[in-house]
Amino acid sequence: MTKKVDIDWANLSFSYMKTDFRYVAKWKDGKWDEGKLVEDNMLTISEASTALHYGQQCFEGLKAYRTKDNKIQLFRPDENAKRLNRSCDKLLMPNFPVERFIDACMQVVKANEAYVPPYGTGATLYLRPFLIGVGDNIGVKPAPEYLFCVFCVPVGPYFKGGLTPVNFVISESFDRAAPYGTGGAKVGGNYAASLEAHKVAVDNGFADCIYLDPKTHTKIEEVGAANFFGITHDNKFITPKSPSILPSITKYSLLHIAKEYMNLETSEGDVLVEDLDQFKEAGACGTAAVITPIGGIEYRGKLHVFHSETEVGPLTRELYDTLYGIQFGDVKAPEGWIYEVK
Ligand code: PLP
Ligand code: COI
Repeated sequence: MTKKVDIDWANLSFSYMKTDFRYVAKWKDGKWDEGKLVEDNMLTISEASTALHYGQQCFEGLKAYRTKDNKIQLFRPDENAKRLNRSCDKLLMPNFPVERFIDACMQVVKANEAYVPPYGTGATLYLRPFLIGVGDNIGVKPAPEYLFCVFCVPVGPYFKGGLTPVNFVISESFDRAAPYGTGGAKVGGNYAASLEAHKVAVDNGFADCIYLDPKTHTKIEEVGAANFFGITHDNKFITPKSPSILPSITKYSLLHIAKEYMNLETSEGDVLVEDLDQFKEAGACGTAAVITPIGGIEYRGKLHVFHSETEVGPLTRELYDTLYGIQFGDVKAPEGWIYEVK
């Protein structure tokens, strides 16, 4: 009989909960071991691990969705695997093979099937793969050993309220990444660098801060831990392009959805903060954030409101419904986007 867990699915937030199994593989002497599922959620690593001292680590985030007919599916896990390996390249860490990454995610979902939220609750099972430098080392150089792990947690919305608009503030005092730094990789250091900016934004009543490009401070880059998109008054879907932005898999999926499902013109390019007036709607997008409508953006003390501070705009809603529908199996997905967990 399948295990049952006592969880209030509809009221889940984005927070940690220990589930039953996680996957761990070890790299030593130039190769990965076979990897296995384990029950212990504690890692025992050398105190001299490069992940602890020099931030030699990267991670991913993807979700498992339960469909109406009770299947479980992953959304574009191959893209997460490829991005993890690009992050590894950036920090001189060994790659984890794409097929093995997908298989590890599948194993974790299957072993924790009881934690995959029921269809219709809006909740999902969030998977957190990560790869860290471990082993005995004290110099600033790549680690002698590595761990690749995947754990999972049932989650609800990242920003409170789901499809309710939230306000953000533009950060002029903090950058999350440098022009030729690691902003385009999903490495922990970028997130450590964002904690203070996030706290200041939240303390001032905003959901998070928006980062400008670190070189000129004139263009929008990231919305906290999500990408930005805006829809112009003539129905163009526009999203920033820059080497210091994390290439969001959700964002590239929305570019496709906007064009192919909604017939909107799309483009990636500069989004000047002084041109916010061009947008009638705006949003933050990412695996955790899904699509979070942006009510307003405060810049130099003035709040710029898009569609409304309380209601989601019609095109943002259509983007959300299509993406959500694809992820939960209610809308036909483009070829290769959905991986069924069997
Ligand atoms: N930007 C940052 C800084 C993020 O941490 C994330 C989350 O992964 C995203 C954007 C969205 O990326 P994705 O859609 O691949 O989850
Ligand atoms: C994600 O959307 O998967 C993220 O990684 C964002 C955040 C939780 C770090």
